[in-house]
Amino acid sequence: MDNDIEKILYTEEEIKERVKQLAAQVRRDMEGEDLIILTVLKGGIMLSADLVRNLGFPVTMDFIAVASYYSGTKSTGNVQIKKDTDINMAGKRVLIVEDIVDSGSTLAHLMKLFALRGATEVRICTLLSKPARRVVDIKVDYIGFEIPDEFVVGYGLDYNQKYRNLPYIGILKPDIYV
Ligand code: IMP
Ligand code: MG
Repeated sequence: MDNDIEKILYTEEEIKERVKQLAAQVRRDMEGEDLIILTVLKGGIMLSADLVRNLGFPVTMDFIAVASYYSGTKSTGNVQIKKDTDINMAGKRVLIVEDIVDSGSTLAHLMKLFALRGATEVRICTLLSKPARRVVDIKVDYIGFEIPDEFVVGYGLDYNQKYRNLPYIGILKPDIYV
């Protein structure tokens, strides 16, 4: 796996430190009775697992799966829910946990949906953001790292379902995906 990586962007240690800081921010802003941590499968699981263990207050956890249709490494903007949550979020606050915000269409779709379902507040926590690629203008409340427009893998992020279990975040060698 490591041989397919061109460059390591963030090491395991750097990610660990940053996730602790994010958890502290979330705790400061959102500590309370009714927080639902909604993790977007599959990429969000590493951040989610590390984030909740650093929160220090009780939360409800659930998972959703979405397909945002891809051609190669680019999103087409079409979002479909593959696995939904059955948690009643009316009157509750939701923190969506994602691996990366790219075009923003996945999260824009989810924000709208959860508002319709009666959530009082929906915030977003993402490990990575690629601001240069944003198509839909959304407010991302907690961002681990802003990265340039490169295709990255590791710590939950995949290419063709591979590399999610790398403990660091790296740029994939372009010859792997051409
Ligand atoms: P968006 O809807 O365009 O913001 O796309 C978000 C989804 O695209 C993420 O949840 C990832 O699954 C995928 N994605 C975007 N950029 C990358 C990347 O650099 N590496 C791996 N997956 C990515
Ligand atoms: Mg993905």
